[in-house]
Amino acid sequence: MTEDILQAPTAATSTDGPATSRVTAEARRRRTFAVISHPDAGKSTLTEALVLHANVITEAGAIHGKAGRRATVSDWMEMEKARGISITSTALQFPYRAPSGQDCVINLLDTPGHADFSEDTYRVLTAVDCAVMLIDAAKGLEPQTLKLFEVCRLRRIPIITVINKWDRPGRDPLELIDEIQSRIGLRPTPLTWPVGIAGDFKGVLDRRTGNFIRFTRTAGGAKAAPEEHITPDRAHAAAGDDWDNAVEESELLSADGSDYDQDTFLGCETTPLLFTSAALNFGVNQLLDVLVQLAPAPHGQLDTEGHRRPAESPFSAFVFKVQAGMDSAHRDRIAYARVCSGTFERGEVLTHATTGKPFVTKYAQSVFGQQRSTLDTAWPGDVIGLANANVLRPGDTLYRDVPVQYPPIPSFSPEHFAVARGTDPSKHKQFRKGIEQLEQEGVVQVLRSDRRGDQAPVFAAVGPMQFEVASHRMAAEMSAPISLESLPYTVARAASPEDVDFLSRQPSVEVFTRTDGVILVLFSTKWRLEGFQRDNPNVVLQSLVAAGDD
Ligand code: G4P
Repeated sequence: MTEDILQAPTAATSTDGPATSRVTAEARRRRTFAVISHPDAGKSTLTEALVLHANVITEAGAIHGKAGRRATVSDWMEMEKARGISITSTALQFPYRAPSGQDCVINLLDTPGHADFSEDTYRVLTAVDCAVMLIDAAKGLEPQTLKLFEVCRLRRIPIITVINKWDRPGRDPLELIDEIQSRIGLRPTPLTWPVGIAGDFKGVLDRRTGNFIRFTRTAGGAKAAPEEHITPDRAHAAAGDDWDNAVEESELLSADGSDYDQDTFLGCETTPLLFTSAALNFGVNQLLDVLVQLAPAPHGQLDTEGHRRPAESPFSAFVFKVQAGMDSAHRDRIAYARVCSGTFERGEVLTHATTGKPFVTKYAQSVFGQQRSTLDTAWPGDVIGLANANVLRPGDTLYRDVPVQYPPIPSFSPEHFAVARGTDPSKHKQFRKGIEQLEQEGVVQVLRSDRRGDQAPVFAAVGPMQFEVASHRMAAEMSAPISLESLPYTVARAASPEDVDFLSRQPSVEVFTRTDGVILVLFSTKWRLEGFQRDNPNVVLQSLVAAGDD
């Protein structure tokens, strides 16, 4: 499955030669990825550092108002947090010229953080070719990272691991490597190894060249950190015992078979690993280079039949997220689509695969932080924002000329449940219609049972923020205000129809049918679920994250 990823595609469905080679060239220079991490691991800081190193900005901004740093590009993240989800940006695109002279385009897709963790966070991962798993050196793997990692694993997204905050006291690097391998079964193959323990970050051993890359701090970490590349014969003189330790540990890693291998990286068995201090801008250049040199370029997408539509085929894209304006003054709705093949030209009429109807792309936008500008052209790997696209839903396909249908985006396992009731009985019709719409847009999953009846559907969500959005939109947009009553469940599993009667008789368990027909059984806790499974080994319950996955 990996061999076609990095190689130049040979066959193209399009007949126009020069245009095809332009698409190939544009696709090959793109890297579309997301950072997966637990809140506070340093995602915003790293994002900003990447942009700084790509020379898009000249000085890192004060995400948290750090003295000596000026507010710049990342302020949008802070504002998003302050203003909630109304202006959530989705993709940050910037050009990057690699030291090799290669001109690249980096598309960094945002996976919203803690407060607004939602199904959208997972959906974004359906639109990337690679993920950077960012880990705090003192904390190791944390719950949200694990959840997001699980989605990457299911979708076979190659992962680059970054151990951040090495400038602070943290854990032993070999111990962190062991933790990754033993807990998630992904073998780290470090590309750099720290010189100096956590808290005393002098530089890294570049395991591919053998050189010592020495970093120098800049005031407040506002500028890219100067780096010197010191050959191994001079490295001991430069870093003493710290260098010798790094060399020794690197040799241990080699002896253990933990050297980088492209095939197993793309096959999701190994993960190249780097050490950084995003706050000091240490190791950020190395990450950019790894993205450019090793991460997969867009290589076409599998359709519902399992055939790959090559990147140079006529235009196609799939919608991975629909964002409705929370601000009642701006009831716009932006559908974000990832280009899978061909060239996007604004104004062109595409086909909406679900309905077969034409779709006009007059209102296409690109997003850089807070700035939105009209987008005229896009290539495979890029994200286009389609404004006023009321017919588009997550998972929908758009194409030109040659029809294609990409697989639906799976529904992810909800962990929050609440009964929704209309507070104004005269708005019964709006209530029903509103809920249907929110469900179709993927704002919440909707569950029903005979026991609770149609008047009291249950909303299910990955994050509680989805309830806030649903509640707000029901009142503001659908004129059908609702009240939500939380239910004491945290785990959902899919069950077969023949077990419904038995399951319905169990204490502290509730059975529902989701709108897509899947039967969901809800348990109060993971332990309760495990106890049930121990006592009833014949009842087959399936985990949901992979539901509908390709
Ligand atoms: P997030 O987006 O993943 O939630 O994390 P964010 O970048 O906001 O960083 C969380 C905290 O960790 C911030 O500190 C940030 O400065 C700090 N941080 C990020 N990367 C590094 C690093 O490499 N080294 C060190 N030492 N700290 C790092 P804060 O206390 O919230 O704010 P402040 O320190 O900016 O005042």
